[in-house]
Amino acid sequence: MEISDNYFQSVICNLQSIVMNEERVVDQLREDEDEKIINLSLRPQNLREFIGQKSIVSSLDIAIEASKRRDEPLEHLLLSGPPGLGKTSLAYCIAKERIAKVTATSGPAIERAGDLVGILTNLEKGDVLFIDEIHRLSKVVEEFLYPAMENFQIDFVIDKGPYAKSVKFNLKPFTLIGATTRKGLLSAPLRGRFGLFFDFDFYDSQSLSLIIKRNAQLLNVEIDNQSCLEIASRSRGTPRLCNRLLKRVRDYAQVVGEGIINLEVTKTSLAQIGVDAQGLDDLDRKYLKSIIELHRGGPAGIEAIAASLGEDKGTLEDVVEPFLLKKGFILRSPRGRIAAQKSYLHLNIPYKDAVVQ
Ligand SMILES: Nc1ncnc2c1ncn2[C@@H]1O[C@H](COP(=O)(O)OP(=O)(O)O)[C@@H](O)[C@H]1O
Ligand SMILES: [Mg+2]
Repeated sequence: MEISDNYFQSVICNLQSIVMNEERVVDQLREDEDEKIINLSLRPQNLREFIGQKSIVSSLDIAIEASKRRDEPLEHLLLSGPPGLGKTSLAYCIAKERIAKVTATSGPAIERAGDLVGILTNLEKGDVLFIDEIHRLSKVVEEFLYPAMENFQIDFVIDKGPYAKSVKFNLKPFTLIGATTRKGLLSAPLRGRFGLFFDFDFYDSQSLSLIIKRNAQLLNVEIDNQSCLEIASRSRGTPRLCNRLLKRVRDYAQVVGEGIINLEVTKTSLAQIGVDAQGLDDLDRKYLKSIIELHRGGPAGIEAIAASLGEDKGTLEDVVEPFLLKKGFILRSPRGRIAAQKSYLHLNIPYKDAVVQ
């Protein structure tokens, strides 16, 4: 394959910017424009193509089949879990199974209850209303949604002052799919109006490896099984990161490795962007070091850790801690976060039992 100088330059710049820590390669929250397009094209198109999350998919299969037989829309459902695990993708797959139209919006995008009137009244029977980041709905909008979810009705006020009157409007039965990275922030009344709940867990390496294999095929790049597993094990259990790392490795392979992804190319390119064998990057390592070195191994409060790193507390809670907790690098106690022995080993710091309480 012919590679232009420009392309070569852009790949090198890309790698340099990552090495210089201008962006966090394992940030699951971030999805820039280029990436959005690639991720969209790699999205599973139906439940059969949805890899992993077996228990979610099989429960959904049954719920979808039952709703079809009753000729009713699927119950409202809430998808929760860390970013990049496939919540949005699954919402579209569900709609596809019911041959339903999707209207997508997000909590912060709906500023006033009025913004919802048009959306809700345009829904046809069985349509899906997808609300991403549903924990960020304002209280007023949330309360406006209650009767819509419960009885497919909305009440809205027309006119002002003494002429104001409340009008009831019947909606067609629809399915609300809410997605959230913070289930705990949802109010009890909102949570109570959903019928189905699915918590996404991080993917195992086997499932991620299958996702990488499939996506490499879609991107038209040759890759061996060992390299799929290597990328998988560094992707923090997150398909969005698989896609990102695969894209970086592919770029590297095209510049230095004749376009074929093998283990050597994979290891070299991933080491260059600072993602280690456990999938931890610079921020994860700084986070762990902060607990170990500045807070004597913990327990340390999240505010104190965030302040010592100059990072936002929410970012640490959303994209750093869930994976470190899952992998046993840290433990949580009522008094704060504690670095586990595994973290000391990983960072090559002598472990002193006495320090950890
Ligand atoms: N189960 C899966 N199988 C295959 N690819 C997936 C799966 N889940 C996610 N992906 C890939 O990861 C990308 C990000 O997933 P997305 O649905 O946007 O995550 P979330 O909404 O949870 O943040 C998708 O565009 C898709 O390419
Ligand atoms: Mg999403």
